[in-house]
Amino acid sequence: MATPIRIAVTGAAGQIGYSLVFRIASGEVFGPDQPVIMHLIEIPPAMGALDGIEMELDDCAYPTLAGVVKASSDDLEAGFADCNFVVCVGSIPRKAGMERGDLIRINGPIFTSTGKAIQAAAAKDVRVLVVGNPCNTNCLIAMSNAPDVPSDRWFAMTRLDENRAVAQLAQKSGQPVAAVTGMAIWGNHSATQFPDFFNTKIGGKSAVEVIGDDEWLKNDFIATVQQRGAAVIKARGASSAASAANAALGTLKSIVTPTPAGTVFSAAICSDGSYGIDEGLITSFPLTTDGNKWSVVQGLEHNEFAQAKIDATVAELQSERDTVKDLLA
Ligand code: NAI
Repeated sequence: MATPIRIAVTGAAGQIGYSLVFRIASGEVFGPDQPVIMHLIEIPPAMGALDGIEMELDDCAYPTLAGVVKASSDDLEAGFADCNFVVCVGSIPRKAGMERGDLIRINGPIFTSTGKAIQAAAAKDVRVLVVGNPCNTNCLIAMSNAPDVPSDRWFAMTRLDENRAVAQLAQKSGQPVAAVTGMAIWGNHSATQFPDFFNTKIGGKSAVEVIGDDEWLKNDFIATVQQRGAAVIKARGASSAASAANAALGTLKSIVTPTPAGTVFSAAICSDGSYGIDEGLITSFPLTTDGNKWSVVQGLEHNEFAQAKIDATVAELQSERDTVKDLLA
């Protein structure tokens, strides 16, 4: 029997957490032969809800689930002890009237303690995926508070944006989602992100040619992807949770599985300076991996329109970094 993988989920009793933990426990990420031990972390008032989730995990009788550890956010080191993966979902959601800058200042401090506890307690091979918003900058804060954890172990989630973009292009072209390849999100997980349709293919042909409607791509398509989260809130009365959990699963799978030839995946990682983007900024790029070490896809061309979009989203990330300067170790 393989040694179990330990995977922590913060905010495990929240909306996304409730969709996420069962699918991880079921073996969906690491396969049917790999046992997992789930570490569920919540704030003290939500610990009772974790008891209920543990009961339901028991009642699923997943052959892959080798144990459950529960911990409160007051004792993150117990929560992250020996974890190989940490998925940071827990955070305060944005409320009506709250500016993005307010949210950054409210959630930022959660990620200083998260980074310190990961460094102190997690396994040496830990990989961290930040979902809680503003996820790029939260990831930057956590990473900078864990200087001993190599910078290539940190990821912030832009996969939901990628999936949204793929779905829009598939629907518009009347082709299956699997026909859409090469779609990647650049920059911030926010309304400035750039879904790069210029470097996307549909059925192996340029998406721009297949769609044949530049105005739609430059305007409606980008706006739909950028504003999709708000549209779901308006329709459902609650933010995207099942699709966000699905995207977190997809990200974890993509980072541990060699990327199939001819495809890429999106995640925000610590920029290595590729494409002139500030080294150290947590920025979404098109990535490939051998299942262990990722690399940014090189050699993509950006026309003036695309470059202006990338510059704008990077400028937003720079300004978020300035807003949390005091939280960066
Ligand atoms: P939610 O409010 O349903 O759940 C959040 C959970 O986190 C709650 O159970 C809360 O008790 C817990 N929590 C709060 N502070 C915590 C802390 N310090 N430590 C541990 N747990 C803590 O929210 P939901 O819908 O699950 O969303 C979670 C986060 O994910 C939000 O920040 C949301 O904006 C973000 N999100 C990110 C997406 C992305 O694409 N990157 C997509 C959708 C949501």
